[in-house]
Amino acid sequence: YEIVQRLGTSEIVPGLRTPIWGYDGTFPGPTIESTSGRTAIVRHRNELPVPTVVHLHGGRTPPDSDGYATDLVLPVGPNANTAAPHAGHGMHDPAAVITTGVRDYTYPLRQRAAMLWYHDHRMDFTGPAVYRGLAGFHIVRDATEDALGLPRGERELPLMITDRAFNEDGTFRYPSLDRTLGSGPGVEDDYVEGVLGDVILVNGAPWPLHEVSATRHRLRILNASNARRYDLALDPPPPGGGVLVQVGADQGLLETPVAHDDVPIAPAERYDLVVDFGRYPVGSEVTLVNRLGSGSTARIMRFRVARPGADDSVVPERLAEPDPLERGDAAVTREFSLRGGLIGDRHGWLINGEAFSPARIDARPRLGDVEVWRFVADLHHPVHLHLVNFRVLSRGGGPPGPHDAGPKDTVDLRPGESVELIARFDGYRGRYMFHCHNAEHEDMGMMANFEVG
Ligand code: C2O
Ligand code: CU
Ligand code: CU
Repeated sequence: YEIVQRLGTSEIVPGLRTPIWGYDGTFPGPTIESTSGRTAIVRHRNELPVPTVVHLHGGRTPPDSDGYATDLVLPVGPNANTAAPHAGHGMHDPAAVITTGVRDYTYPLRQRAAMLWYHDHRMDFTGPAVYRGLAGFHIVRDATEDALGLPRGERELPLMITDRAFNEDGTFRYPSLDRTLGSGPGVEDDYVEGVLGDVILVNGAPWPLHEVSATRHRLRILNASNARRYDLALDPPPPGGGVLVQVGADQGLLETPVAHDDVPIAPAERYDLVVDFGRYPVGSEVTLVNRLGSGSTARIMRFRVARPGADDSVVPERLAEPDPLERGDAAVTREFSLRGGLIGDRHGWLINGEAFSPARIDARPRLGDVEVWRFVADLHHPVHLHLVNFRVLSRGGGPPGPHDAGPKDTVDLRPGESVELIARFDGYRGRYMFHCHNAEHEDMGMMANFEVG
């Protein structure tokens, strides 16, 4: 695969051209489809004005292709601004591997079928880069999942949900760094929440309408918003409820399907849902709503059940083998606090009291070891680990919640809550990041390193 990162425009608000930074100039970027166990090589060429870093979120990737925050691809071409700042904290990372213009990312994909995504990950600038459009799907398939008979083809819909704010001329409105870094009165709200927009987009389009037949559809949902959480539901619900049948989480299939009326989704989380539109009369219009929103952020998209259809898809009772890891398998238990605090004289976001530094390793799991990681949060923080997939072991001191099932790579902590994860650290040795996936929190320090040795 070859992708050119370049400036583009998109007609998001009717009649206006919004300038974007896009993979191949589009937002979202092109969807890549790969097969589990077959190495995919993606060549990125950076024709944007600034350095970039590409991370395959959810990929089990060797460290040199993982998109470490300082492994920059410097820009080439007419837009390159060579005076662009390379790192906001001004930190120099001697281990960084910097290339100019082009970089080949190698993805062995020794992992099961899952919907991954790729996005920019440059230290201190992930928020604005992703906001401008640097995000796309990378779907991994395998024979086990293909054999299940879930809805495919036109009935499989990857849906990337984002929120954006616009200026009157159609440009994206991303608050200036000064404002998000909280150096004046009235900035507390921005800085606590991260950057929120008032227009919800699905695959880059506001309030889309999708026509479906009265059959099962697989809605593969990603929250690619910088900071907004959603609680997704269908309005109206069909008689009997339980219309969102979850078959998978971030990292692939659940053991058994779980029927929900609503699903809460934090930044970077994915839900793999099967919805049977055959439960609605032909002619109905069904809205995907956001129960956490109000006004323009309360509605996401519409489905029109346009025609009857023959349905040969199934949702088997048994989807995947259970995860065998148990607490007793853990060699180590680690603790991390996620809190606001001061970085010098500025507000920032900290892990165990420290802001991100490429030079500091915060955990050293041994290759192949199982570990339990316990996180405690002051506010909402969606925690993401690179390299591994994990299972939620406990939430708030009790059992995992109804939406915690399945293999995951990102989990949302609620204010004051603790969550424990269990994971096996295998695949590759090397340095990887873990961080809050609220992009502004991440840019303001809430990121740390683990090194598998
Ligand atoms: Cu989706 Cu470290 O990121
Ligand atoms: Cu990631
Ligand atoms: Cu956070």
